[in-house]
Amino acid sequence: MPTYPPEPFRIKVIEPIRLVPPEEREAKLKEAGYNLFSMKAEDIFIDLLTDSGTGAMSQEQWAAVMRGDESYAGARSFYRLKAAVEDIFGFKYFVPAHQGRAAENILSACLVKPGQYVPSNMHFDTTDANIRARGGRPINLVIDEAFDPANPHPFKGNMDIAKLKAFIEKTGAEKIPFGMVTVTNNAGGGQPVSMENLKAIAEVYHSHKIPFFIDAARYAENCYFIKQRESGYASKSVKEIAREMFSLADGMTMSAKKDAIVNIGGLLCMNDETLFQNVKNELILREGFPTYGGLAGRDLDAMAVGLYEGIDEAYLSYRLAQTAYLVARINEAGIPSIQPAGGHAVYLDAQAVLPHIPQSEFPGQALAVELYREGAIRGVEIGSVMFAYPDPDTGKMIYPKLELLRLAIPRRTYTQTHMDYVADTLAKIKARAASIRGYKFTYAPELLRHFTARFEPL
Ligand code: F0G
Repeated sequence: MPTYPPEPFRIKVIEPIRLVPPEEREAKLKEAGYNLFSMKAEDIFIDLLTDSGTGAMSQEQWAAVMRGDESYAGARSFYRLKAAVEDIFGFKYFVPAHQGRAAENILSACLVKPGQYVPSNMHFDTTDANIRARGGRPINLVIDEAFDPANPHPFKGNMDIAKLKAFIEKTGAEKIPFGMVTVTNNAGGGQPVSMENLKAIAEVYHSHKIPFFIDAARYAENCYFIKQRESGYASKSVKEIAREMFSLADGMTMSAKKDAIVNIGGLLCMNDETLFQNVKNELILREGFPTYGGLAGRDLDAMAVGLYEGIDEAYLSYRLAQTAYLVARINEAGIPSIQPAGGHAVYLDAQAVLPHIPQSEFPGQALAVELYREGAIRGVEIGSVMFAYPDPDTGKMIYPKLELLRLAIPRRTYTQTHMDYVADTLAKIKARAASIRGYKFTYAPELLRHFTARFEPL
C-alpha cells in the first residue's frame, strides 16, 4: 500500500465544494457539448484540470498581500521580489511578467527571427506557440524513453545529447538564437531532468555560443527529484541544487503559478545586459513598467514569499509523495499511467482503459467525460482531441503516439480523502469500461480545438 504523508499544514480557511447529484451531471455535460473546458467550475467537485494558479496560498502569503506597495515605479514589493529572485536563481537581471507565456513572448520577441530554430527536451505548448508566432521553429529532442509509458527511467525528461549535437551540426549554430530545457517536462509526463544532463546540455549549447534558457515552471519539483534520485545530491538542500542548476544557464522563463504557489505571476531572468535593455523596452510595450511587469504590487509580494515556500523540503516531500500515492492507487485499480510518477500530475493511459475505442473516436475524451459523469471530477485530455491533425500533403489524419488523460494536482489544496475519491471513481469506471463509447465532433475550430470544441456521444 503506498504511503500518504500527513500534510505539513493545517486548514484555516475553507472553500466549500458541492457534489452535483448524478442525475444533474448528464444535463450539465450535454449543455457543455461534452467539453470539460466549457463547464462551470461550481459544477466540478474535484478540479484537476491544472496545477497552474490553482494552489492554496499560505498565511504568510496573504499577510504579504496586505503589504503590497502599489506605487507605479520602484515599489517596495518589487525590491522584496528582487531579493528573493537573486537569492534563489542568481541571475544578474530579471523582470516580472503576468504569467509564464508573457515571459516567453517577451523573450521570443527579443531573440527569435523567422527561419530560426529553438531546441528543447519538449516545449510546453505556449512556448512552442510563442516561438512559432515570431516565425521560429520549436524542436523537441527528449530521450526516446519518454515515449514509452511503462519505462521507469528516473530522469525521463532528459534531453538526448547525441540528437542535440547532431541537430546543431545540421542546422548551424547561427540559426539557433537560444536553446531551452523544460524542468520538469510537463509535455512528457512531468518527468525530471538530471543535473548530469543539465550540465551536458549547457556544455553543448555553450560550446556553440548558444545562450541557454531554462523553462523553470516546476524547477523546485525537479530539484527535489534530483535530491532523491541522483547520486551526490542527497545531502544538498533544494536551494543549493537550484543554485547549481541555474548557474549552468544564461537565463530562464518561469510561470510562477506553479512552483511559486501564486494565483498569477511570472518571471524572466537573464545575465546579458543588452538583452535586459531590450526586454525592458518590450515589457513596457506589452506588460508594464519593469518594476511591476503587468502585476499588482501585492502579487509581487505573494510571489516573493511563495518562492521560498516552493522550495521548502517538508512541503516538497509531501507534494511529490501525494502525486506518487495517487499514481499507485490508480495503478492498483488496474489503470496504467506514465511511469514513474511525475511531479505535478498523473497521466493515465486512456487507450489501455478503453482499447475498443479507436483514436478517431477520442478515447481520452471519453475517459474525461466518464470521470465527470461518475464523480464530477475534471481532468484534461492530452490525445487526439488536442494533437491529431491532417497531413498537409495527403490530408490523412496523423494521430499522437499516446492517448492520455492528465489529472494535475493543485498545490496544498486537496487532501488524501480527495485523492482516494479520485482513485475509487476511476476503479468504478474501469469495471464498466467495455460499455463506454466514443465521441464525434459537432464543432471544432482549426487551431487549439480542445478549448472550444463540442462533441456528441456515438
Ligand atoms: N511552461 C510550462 C512547462 C508550463 O507547464 C506552462 C503552463 C507554461 C510554461 C506557461 O505558463 O500558464 O503561466 O502562461 N502550464 C499550465 C498547465 C497551463 O496546465 O500545464 P502560464
